[in-house]
Amino acid sequence: MENIAEPLAAEAFPRVGGVLHCENVPMQELVARWGTPLYVYSQNAIRDRFRELDDALSPVPHLIAYSVKANGNLAVLRTLADLGAGADIVSGGELHRALLAGIPPERIVFSGVGKTVIELAAALSAGIYAFNVESEGELCALSDLACAMGTRAPVALRVNPDIDTPTPHAYTRTGHAATKFGIAAARARTLYSIAAKMPGVRVRGIDVHIGSQILEVGPFRQALDYVLDLAHELKREEVELEFLDLGGGLGISYEGGPRISAAEWADEIVPAVAATGLKLVVEPGRFLVGESGALLTRVLYVKEGGGKRFVITDAGMNDLLRPSHYSGWHAVEPVEPHGRARGHVDVVGPICETGDFLALDREMEVPKPGELLSIMTVGAYGFSMSSQYNQRPRPAEVMVDGAEATLVRRRETVDDLVAAEMDL
Ligand SMILES: Cc1ncc(COP(=O)(O)O)c(C=O)c1O
Repeated sequence: MENIAEPLAAEAFPRVGGVLHCENVPMQELVARWGTPLYVYSQNAIRDRFRELDDALSPVPHLIAYSVKANGNLAVLRTLADLGAGADIVSGGELHRALLAGIPPERIVFSGVGKTVIELAAALSAGIYAFNVESEGELCALSDLACAMGTRAPVALRVNPDIDTPTPHAYTRTGHAATKFGIAAARARTLYSIAAKMPGVRVRGIDVHIGSQILEVGPFRQALDYVLDLAHELKREEVELEFLDLGGGLGISYEGGPRISAAEWADEIVPAVAATGLKLVVEPGRFLVGESGALLTRVLYVKEGGGKRFVITDAGMNDLLRPSHYSGWHAVEPVEPHGRARGHVDVVGPICETGDFLALDREMEVPKPGELLSIMTVGAYGFSMSSQYNQRPRPAEVMVDGAEATLVRRRETVDDLVAAEMDL
């Protein structure tokens, strides 16, 4: 099938003489410098993915507003900003990060169901491109605030098109009516009419985001059709629009097989958007960074019991939550295979929770204590969802560009764990 793309992992994480590398750097070298658990990102994988999408969208004026929640490391943001990316943010903290990384405010859109007045004010002062408003209450609060600040807030309403999106986990479906996200389809038109008359609001676009890790083009097309109908109605009512924001959600290959290419996605979407003359905004997260990341971990112990073999690693659910929270599947690769017998293992962490695992019932070469494993495809929702649960300092992060590796976040220390607390 044309337009079906191979995943980047093979290029970003090649084996050279059997040893797993990130670009040109052997993984053991990174561990020798910075220890484990260690997040490692291929900068060229991020660049390649951005360019793939940017090329696919080139027939229309567009903004790729990278979803900061996927991976907010400043080095990742700077890599994307240098290529022309904007940001999709969901908090004041993400606004701060995006601006710090040099993403111009006019390339920032602000999503999220619960923006506080303080966050709205910070984004208004910064001069962001659009607020993706998710409720009538938020719209009123924003208009009042903008009036008080002597300005008008650029707004898109995030509409809920009531599409039951096929994603691998219920928690990543956001386009059906029963979720907390967006403004009910039946209410959207009326709210646009209200917004158009509000003194503190300037209607700028329509926004939709139907879910994450979507591997078919169909649901995106359904969402677009809904948005196009709404845009058409608004035009009749003389509500002026500048952009259509189709959100994020484009899926990646966790298991190493082919995935939808940006070109295939764009073939379905771009011509219809071009016909409207409007700008296209997209908010990809996982698609841009997911396959660029690996998590290196050391095997502490191997034990058997209850008919199971447990490989206990120094990375746990606090470092990588996806397997436990989303039943996310990640390939587990030995950094240096030894050609030993294969077997079924549970790869588990040191956290005091039965839900603390990285892989269950995985058939792989059974590792020995002291050996290194690489958990693949963790560039998105890996570090960004990590925590200090069980008082575990969070891992360091390293960016690799060709033969050069740079520490882009130092490992936390036990002092960091208590730094914000007050002595009684
Ligand atoms: C509003 C919004 N936009 C974009 C994204 C990014 O999604 P993805 O990483 O699947 O592209 C999300 C993720 O949940 C989101 O909530």
